[in-house]
Amino acid sequence: MSPSLQRNVVSDHAGIDYQDLLAYLHRELRPRNYLEIGTRHGGTLALSGCRSIAIDPHFQFTDPAIFSSRPVTLLYQLTSDEFFASHDARALFGEPIQLAFLDGMHRCEFLLRDFYNTEAASAPNSVIAIHDCLPVEIPMTSREEHGIVPVEPHRAGWWTGDVWRTALLLKRERPDLDILALDAHPTGLIIVTNLDPGSTRLKDNYNACVRTMLSYDLSEMTIAEYFAEMQVQNTSCLDSSEKLTARYWL
Ligand SMILES: C[S@@+](CC[C@H](N)C(=O)[O-])C[C@H]1O[C@@H](n2cnc3c(N)ncnc32)[C@H](O)[C@@H]1O
Repeated sequence: MSPSLQRNVVSDHAGIDYQDLLAYLHRELRPRNYLEIGTRHGGTLALSGCRSIAIDPHFQFTDPAIFSSRPVTLLYQLTSDEFFASHDARALFGEPIQLAFLDGMHRCEFLLRDFYNTEAASAPNSVIAIHDCLPVEIPMTSREEHGIVPVEPHRAGWWTGDVWRTALLLKRERPDLDILALDAHPTGLIIVTNLDPGSTRLKDNYNACVRTMLSYDLSEMTIAEYFAEMQVQNTSCLDSSEKLTARYWL
């Protein structure tokens, strides 16, 4: 293994599984609505018991039971950009998005657009959870999903892409956001609130933001330093309903 790859391998995250954490958010926050970008088989959509919008250009549902837990599920077999160009989630729900989960295309510029489009349709106290922003080794951060050879063989298939860059951009350029980076297994969950639906800063400066993100080099900064800057915490920091609802209130 090359020295730079060796320096850039950290242990598996010690926190609970991201789906268990999402289920906990649904259970404790009891959102009235939920928007999800990136659904595939519906494993995370199944966790929602409220009116939901799911967006994915290629749904791969195999189990009809994932629709049984909620009264309304709106399915948009579109890219998220196509969805936001022609639909208004607020109008569909009749109110701002309350809880969102972003898990679509794993490239930083796609997540940046998903974030600001979701924020614009949210309320300040809405909660946006973002998957895969805490990679544990470099190969999984490739912008291409295929052909990845993991350093640790048990991590085969853990493709995060480079959405870590978007998380770092939000941390650096949007200090007004409340960002909690959690060591959810396997590749982290970032929870963002204190949103500013009226903010056009990221959208207006989109090209500059993309240039900035692409200038971030994880091999150079090291994963450990990136985690330190993101102030990654163990998922147990939200392990009681009091701790959770003190920070997040819908
Ligand atoms: C990792 S999977 C989602 C898994 C699901 N959230 C879960 O945890 O069970 C990512 C999904 O993003 C979808 N996707 C890819 N490009 C997208 C885009 N531009 N907009 C929305 N979804 C996209 C893919 O089709 C794929 O189903």
